[in-house]
Amino acid sequence: MKTIIINIKELIQVRDNNIEILKGEEMKTLPTIKNAFLVIEDDIIVDYGSMDKISDDKYGKTINAEGRIVMPTWCDSHTHIVYAGNREGEFVDRINGLSYQEIANRGGGILNSAKKLQETSEDDLYSQSEQRLKSVMKLGTGAIEIKSGYGLNKEAELKMLRVIKRLKENYDLPIKATFLAAHALPTEYKDDKQAYLKDVVDNILPAVVKDNLADYIDVFCETGYFSPEDTQYVISAAAKHGLKAKIHVNQFTSIKGIDICVSNNALSADHLEVMTEEDIDKLKGTKTMPVALPSCSYFLSIPYTPARKMIDSGLPLALATDYNPGSTPSGNMNFVVSTACIKMKMTPEEAINAATINAAYAMDLSESHGSITRGKKANLIITKVIPGYAYLPYSFGENNIEKVFINGKEL
Ligand code: NIG
Ligand code: FE
Repeated sequence: MKTIIINIKELIQVRDNNIEILKGEEMKTLPTIKNAFLVIEDDIIVDYGSMDKISDDKYGKTINAEGRIVMPTWCDSHTHIVYAGNREGEFVDRINGLSYQEIANRGGGILNSAKKLQETSEDDLYSQSEQRLKSVMKLGTGAIEIKSGYGLNKEAELKMLRVIKRLKENYDLPIKATFLAAHALPTEYKDDKQAYLKDVVDNILPAVVKDNLADYIDVFCETGYFSPEDTQYVISAAAKHGLKAKIHVNQFTSIKGIDICVSNNALSADHLEVMTEEDIDKLKGTKTMPVALPSCSYFLSIPYTPARKMIDSGLPLALATDYNPGSTPSGNMNFVVSTACIKMKMTPEEAINAATINAAYAMDLSESHGSITRGKKANLIITKVIPGYAYLPYSFGENNIEKVFINGKEL
């Protein structure tokens, strides 16, 4: 069945020819059509244009979008939405003066979430995670990546990944699963990191692969967690099974993890709050998409990824939420886009490009998502009546979304 959306105030991110990556200067341009129409057939975008070029075809349904903007849904390429319980106690501890690292060193942080997750049944974990998925879809997320990494043992990691698989089966939006193989050192291995990594590679990874539970591999490459050498060890093993890497790197310190990302053709290098000139240079001309997570910087009061410096030096940049219980208990891509503009000095055009086209690349969805292009999936946002697209980041904290379509179906 064909549906036509008419009188669109402005149709955003229109790309007649598909584009995979926008970098440097290219990020400044956001192509739009004012006073537009859009036609979808079943789950696919089949046509669009200016209202004066509308054809008098037969449509099963007509939506009048007068005063509203239509755009592709957000792609959120970095989340941890499968988790158990919350860490609001640690949030208060941080307000009272403890740092994120101090809390982790006392056995809180990721270990705290791992304990909760291990004690939670698979069904309970599924329903807690499903609530989060539904709420971010209502906020305009139309493609999402979800990581494991709070299991910290074989049974619990597989439980997390099976929950992701069940979400994939039950929801229409594309979901990519990442095996976050080395996130923190479990207490039982605290004096023998190598033994833990060996268990991850020789025991857990083959089980994940056998049941086809992961699309990507991830490691938390950071001082006090896992070194670049540890990261290389894990991603080399995963590469033998065809898993591409998406790596947590440069969140608190720069320890040459980016070298590992680029030399292994990682799909993305995520966080990047602390970047040296050398790190920025290393990313140039590579296949690795830099991904910034401004809600994490906001929540932890840590530096923001130096987006201006990176984009001005010619790099691409994607934006994602990092939705997780410890560093970012929020999956709102609208807030991410606002914060990127307000705190990272990205223009609305750059931020929207980063949260759609570049974000689709960071989860291998360039062919089907991230832009208004004929043949792509009809995953769309219809805003409320707003003055223009810059109003989206400007009116931070406001919900400007009226309708969300996934595969042509309204939520
Ligand atoms: O991406 N930095 C590593 N992992 C998560 C947070 C982990 C946690 O505190 O639960 C992140 O920020
Ligand atoms: Fe993360």
